[in-house]
Amino acid sequence: MKRKSGVLLVAALLLASVAVANRFAAAETTTGDAAAAGGLQTLVTDYRTRVPSRYTAESWAPFAKALTAAAGVAGNASASTSQVAGAKTGLMNAAADLEAADEGTFQTITNNTFWNDTSGNPIYSQGGGVFKFGDTYYWYGVHYRGAESYRANPTRKYDNEVSFVSIPVYSSRDLVNWKFENRVATGSTRLANNTTLGQAGWVGRMGVSYNENTGKYVLVTQVYLPSLGGDGNGVLILQGDSPTDTFDYAYYQNQVVNSPTTGTGDQTVFTDDNGKDYLIFSNRSGRSRAFVAKLRESDSLRIEPAVEIGRQSSGREGNAMFKLDGKYYHAASDLHGWNTSVNHVIESTTSNVQGAYTSEYTLAGTELDYSHVTQTGFFVTVKGTKQTTVVYAGDRWADFAWNGIGYNQWVPITKSGARPQFHSVSQWQFNATTGEWRVGPQNNYILNPNFQADRVTVSTLTGWTNTGGSVTNISPGANGSRFALQVGSGSAGVRQQITVPAGTYRMSLYARTSGSLSGAQMTVTDASGATRTLNIPASSGWTRRELADIPLSAGTATVTVRTSNGVLAVDDLALVKTSGDDPTPPVGQRYEAETAPAVCQGTIDSNHTGFTGSGFCNANNAAGAYAQFTVNAAAAGSRTLGVRFANGTTTARAANLIVNGATVATVAFEGTGGWTTWVTKNLTASLNAGSNTIQLSPTAAEGLPNIDSLDVGAA
Ligand code: GCU
Ligand code: CA
Repeated sequence: MKRKSGVLLVAALLLASVAVANRFAAAETTTGDAAAAGGLQTLVTDYRTRVPSRYTAESWAPFAKALTAAAGVAGNASASTSQVAGAKTGLMNAAADLEAADEGTFQTITNNTFWNDTSGNPIYSQGGGVFKFGDTYYWYGVHYRGAESYRANPTRKYDNEVSFVSIPVYSSRDLVNWKFENRVATGSTRLANNTTLGQAGWVGRMGVSYNENTGKYVLVTQVYLPSLGGDGNGVLILQGDSPTDTFDYAYYQNQVVNSPTTGTGDQTVFTDDNGKDYLIFSNRSGRSRAFVAKLRESDSLRIEPAVEIGRQSSGREGNAMFKLDGKYYHAASDLHGWNTSVNHVIESTTSNVQGAYTSEYTLAGTELDYSHVTQTGFFVTVKGTKQTTVVYAGDRWADFAWNGIGYNQWVPITKSGARPQFHSVSQWQFNATTGEWRVGPQNNYILNPNFQADRVTVSTLTGWTNTGGSVTNISPGANGSRFALQVGSGSAGVRQQITVPAGTYRMSLYARTSGSLSGAQMTVTDASGATRTLNIPASSGWTRRELADIPLSAGTATVTVRTSNGVLAVDDLALVKTSGDDPTPPVGQRYEAETAPAVCQGTIDSNHTGFTGSGFCNANNAAGAYAQFTVNAAAAGSRTLGVRFANGTTTARAANLIVNGATVATVAFEGTGGWTTWVTKNLTASLNAGSNTIQLSPTAAEGLPNIDSLDVGAA
């Protein structure tokens, strides 16, 4: 979504740069330039692009009024600083209350990928936060040098490349399409004592708040820079006149009162519903105490004495806060360095953010894949017209730890019973207007499918239950990844239970084997007990295997990986829904090979599972020993013919496709990896209106593969 037209954007940037120039020319001016220098004109220019027809009349009226008032202040040469702040606050509040006239749209969030901004450039943003000012979300975070290297080549660690490049800011109204706006700080941002931000040994973990008294946007970040004072571990405060301004140095605070150590051990900024802002952090050394400290109300330029809300001797970091249904939830990760962890939550027992909290529990849904292979980053609470959804923004410090692809993994959190529930989805769709979300069409239902959650070698992998034998993760995995799962040698396996909606699925993986392999397979068993098996043949290199057309009923499904003999390594497991709730094709008709008037020149067998109907055609192993279907077409025309077959050999079997007596094609039915691995091959042929015979007649002595069914597509 574009927030500004190109021309208006240029105008806004020109105004912003004029504003910056003015501020340096006449520091602390209170009249005339105050409106421009205060960033008010930038906001007015931006909000003038809103179109009334997009909003309800009731919400537009107060907004239009606030916009007119703000424009008046912006144009008033003698407006005071507090008038400017008041106009900004009034305008942003009215904009925040704008109510969309429509139902919004669902936008797709795909995790485990590198994200781009709306211009197609990489989004570089780690350890930051998303803050809503007016009707717009702004995303701040750090662009580290190593993020570029990692994106260019994600097949190794970059744990020393944490040098600071900049703090970019992106804007969005739907939380999915992010427009690059500016770099609010860079290495050349001037700080106190003749230092620049580029000299810092560490910059990270920041948040931005708006101060209603000064009308300024205040950025609070961790910094390590000894020349700033004390031991150099502290909180750096920058401020700007608009959310996308180039921010200036405001203050450096070495220690927060009540924290036992200088600096902070990870932090985020939390803004409460009433506009009050807090720093959420743990103490830097040890990280055993969770603190909530108020930003000074007058200007947000000091961190006031902290209040301890929780204590955990093993230490916590990635501290962040969200509010849902009136309760405060403080979430944090284990002390795992650059690695991933469950989310540990404490929740408020009073209406006071600095009051009493429960003892710690694990956020449901973060156990099986360590929070979608992330460390706690920050939260965005979206109060939609239909529901409230909290977006969990996980940081995958992958460029440093090499755990999976992409830095930002966002998933929805909703309330399930009394507690919040983390939905570990690899793809989902979100409607920021209504607050609704749904699982995305490409979602992989398997959790920790790349075995990246464990940062070290283990004999029980996160999310996977051992079913016996020797189990471990090995490094490297397939496709340049860090880890894979290995079972065997000898009989060994793992399983995972997941929840799936009813539908047809495709299961796939990469496999590599050694030793004398037997019984190597991946299976999925649905809630009704039906099992489908993907047999895994021997291969010394990583080879992709898949099994399609798996009907699963809704509920708990169990996925297993096992071998009876030899060593089986697997990676990149996937279970993706390929069609809706109806396991038969949504259009067209399925014909079973075992059902008359179909003819099978062989036997109808049922010894290899995975077939549809009551069996399959095992034609004689001879040239010309055919399988034939009689199908009906409502009208003449071209149709897709989906032949479902299994070929447990490694040699393709060729057959002529004979429609109504005429050979129209010769088809090769390749090895599918096993006799229980059924694959659908789509062919095309012209059918007559009414009855048609479709014959598959093998051209060589091996005969046909086993033939299960034929799907005739709609015209
Ligand atoms: C095996 C398999 C049969 C298959 C046959 C073949 O016997 O069990 O289902 O039809 O091989 O090679 O055709
Ligand atoms: Ca056969």
